[in-house]
Amino acid sequence: MRTDEVLLEVENLTVSFSMAGGLHRAVRGLSFSLGAGEILGIVGESGSGKSVSTQAIPSLLPKNALTSGSVRYRGKELLGRSVSFLREYRGKKIGMIFQEPGRSYDPLQNMESVFFETFRNSDRKITRALSLEKAASLLSETGLERGRERLSNFPHQFSGGQLQRIGIALALAQGCELLIADEPTTALDVTIQKQIAALLLRLRETRNISIIFISHDINLVAEIAGRIIVMYGGLIMEAGKSALFAEGAVHPYSKALLAASPRFGSHYSRERLKTIPGRVTDPAHTEPGCPFAPRCAEASDECKDGVPPLVPLDGEGGHQARCVRIPWR
Ligand SMILES: Nc1ncnc2c1ncn2[C@@H]1O[C@H](COP(=O)(O)OP(=O)(O)OP(=O)(O)O)[C@@H](O)[C@H]1O
Ligand SMILES: [Mg+2]
Repeated sequence: MRTDEVLLEVENLTVSFSMAGGLHRAVRGLSFSLGAGEILGIVGESGSGKSVSTQAIPSLLPKNALTSGSVRYRGKELLGRSVSFLREYRGKKIGMIFQEPGRSYDPLQNMESVFFETFRNSDRKITRALSLEKAASLLSETGLERGRERLSNFPHQFSGGQLQRIGIALALAQGCELLIADEPTTALDVTIQKQIAALLLRLRETRNISIIFISHDINLVAEIAGRIIVMYGGLIMEAGKSALFAEGAVHPYSKALLAASPRFGSHYSRERLKTIPGRVTDPAHTEPGCPFAPRCAEASDECKDGVPPLVPLDGEGGHQARCVRIPWR
């Protein structure tokens, strides 16, 4: 079912925020593409620009955000387009789920009515009975037990994992082709995390949807995504196939993230996780050189001269890295 069709092409995307003290450069030239049915992972510490860069795709940034570059969805430019043009994309072709699903719902509206309103967005004539039917079927597809009965429940009556399943069902109800999942499992326990990850993988198989999966946890992302982008300071530090990251990560930042992320079963090992020293870069005062240099154990004076380019590396899968030491000199 999978195709080679390109769904999304992001080219040299920049996002800056106009603030009282000057410009905050949150995303500094991001390029990637995503195929239909592909899962792309984006990892990086807090503040590295993961959310801002993906919110730019359906133009969901606040008014003080300035963007440049290009975001093409099936060949059509989305950046800088009017709200009426974007209506077809935001929350429809491009669905989004977030870390705290409870916050997306009105506490006084039961799920039956949430689904009814959602279906009515695209079909004004839908009946309550048909809406119930379709909602129950989607909830069964996303694995919510006793979904039909539970449609009369209010948001607070569901667990975080259940709300995430409902959020995914609502995205599907609107014809989602691309799901942007921004830390959808961060607030869930490990078992539920695995279940939601399995659900996303299943939907990719059955519906050929494309997914951008954002997380701090590089090992979790490697289990779900075919390809990974590692971001820091609004820049791609390393990108490539997930399989490669387990053994072949080359960037000091990727290696530090791997050492700081628990592997499944590691609770039973004696190995200690390594924290990354220092503080994340401040977008109000971007360094002239590599943003990771002040925290990098391998940094030299050369790293402070300018931002190193993202260079393609040998091997398959479009492996790229941004470091003065790569390719090794
Ligand atoms: N509305 C805004 N105004 C000013 N700066 C902002 C705004 N939104 C985000 N930023 C800044 O942009 C940078 C990138 O933020 P972003 O939310 O994309 O990080 P993130 O990688 O998603 O982090 P986290 O893991 O904490 O979600 C941060 O330094 C953040 O403070
Ligand atoms: Mg974020």
